[in-house]
Amino acid sequence: MNSFEYCSPTEMIFGKGVQLQAAAKLKEAGATKVLILYGGGSVKRNGLLDQVCDSFTANNLSYIVLGGVKPNPLVSFVRTAIEKGCAEKVDFVLAVGGGSVIDTAKAAAHGIANPEYDIWDDIWQKKMALKKTLPVASILTLAAAGSETSDSAVLTEDKTELKRGLNTVLNRPKFAFMNPELTYSAPKYQVACGIADILMHTLERYFAEEKDNYMTDFIAEGLLKNVINFSKKALAEENDYTARSEIMYCGSLSHCGLTGLGRQRDFSVHKLGHEISGKYDVAHGASLTTMWPSWARYSYKTDAGRFAHLADVLWNIKDGTNEERALQGITKLEEYFKSIGMPTSFSELSIGIQSDKAIEYLADMCTDNGSKKVGFFQPISKADAIAMYKMAN
Ligand code: NZQ
Ligand code: ZN
Repeated sequence: MNSFEYCSPTEMIFGKGVQLQAAAKLKEAGATKVLILYGGGSVKRNGLLDQVCDSFTANNLSYIVLGGVKPNPLVSFVRTAIEKGCAEKVDFVLAVGGGSVIDTAKAAAHGIANPEYDIWDDIWQKKMALKKTLPVASILTLAAAGSETSDSAVLTEDKTELKRGLNTVLNRPKFAFMNPELTYSAPKYQVACGIADILMHTLERYFAEEKDNYMTDFIAEGLLKNVINFSKKALAEENDYTARSEIMYCGSLSHCGLTGLGRQRDFSVHKLGHEISGKYDVAHGASLTTMWPSWARYSYKTDAGRFAHLADVLWNIKDGTNEERALQGITKLEEYFKSIGMPTSFSELSIGIQSDKAIEYLADMCTDNGSKKVGFFQPISKADAIAMYKMAN
């Protein structure tokens, strides 16, 4: 087990109706004026935003509201949020939505607390050491990205189409209000994308150089089994509270750091996927299921025993050599992704088959024109990235 420092300071408030506690909790934490952010309008249509605003008024807590965050959130919108937040002197940011709204809230919080710096050129490109931010909370409406407890945020720069993450302890939110009922109105495809993302956050930590990390392995394997187990029910019956609760809890657990504690996180598939989402604006979870089977088939020989062990844990695959079981396990997970309606190749994505030129462009973006390798389990060069994108074609 590697040495580690771990602090996950987010207070999780979980259960039916917890969104109504947000105003009081934020006020108790010192908020005097809150910037409430939301996405494309789902929270307006289902009445959640009104409910939250009413509870702010009832608690005498000032707020301003800004809607319009898009999936794969854009830097330009963050700049608008920062401008508004600074002008209105807000001291807390509340996201009402999924990962895109939460990531926008994190970025807005950094920008408002550091108005002399540009959010992309300085803060995202790490030209300055981020030392302060505003506190952030979320009322979660989709179990997926895990941003409600994670130390990450991901933005896309409008002109260059670069989709890049920023990891810092300052991205850890203060509160996560998690009511599984709020996910009932989410489109099935988004729920499936979320389930895929939750699995990937643990899988991307599971395949690593470090061995002898038994507790972390048990947590990771338990989470993967639980998500696979409850996912069909969560998709079949949108208002199954038990299934939606399990998926929501796993979403936060999968990306708060615990499923990979004591080892380096790889996140190669995320990097390969971010280039697809940045260029073609496809849903994050779909970009991951498009690339995972190719990544796995390209990389499994690096540690076939580990892949074979997971095949046994998840699918009870016991017969054959390590390599045979590893490949059977990869095929099983690929079939599972298909069974929940997720694409596993470019041809199944809305963008279709890619030309050699388009693939080289993605590989260049991923590896900074071939100057960097991606990941640690099996570091990916530009040539490797081209091979994997071609396998996914
Ligand atoms: O925008 P609205 O109208 O709210 O609709 C959203 C959006 O269209 C809809 N939706 C969400 N909850 C709903 C709902 N519609 C009806 N009822 C509800 N209850 O779903 C669509 C997708 O929302 P989005 O927030 O984009 O999804 P998700 O939570 O999957 O977030 C994806 C973003 O998070 C980033 C991804 O890259 C992507 O940009 N990630 C953030 C991470 C982090 N901060 O730690 C880690 C992840 O790996 C990921 O990269
Ligand atoms: Zn993800």
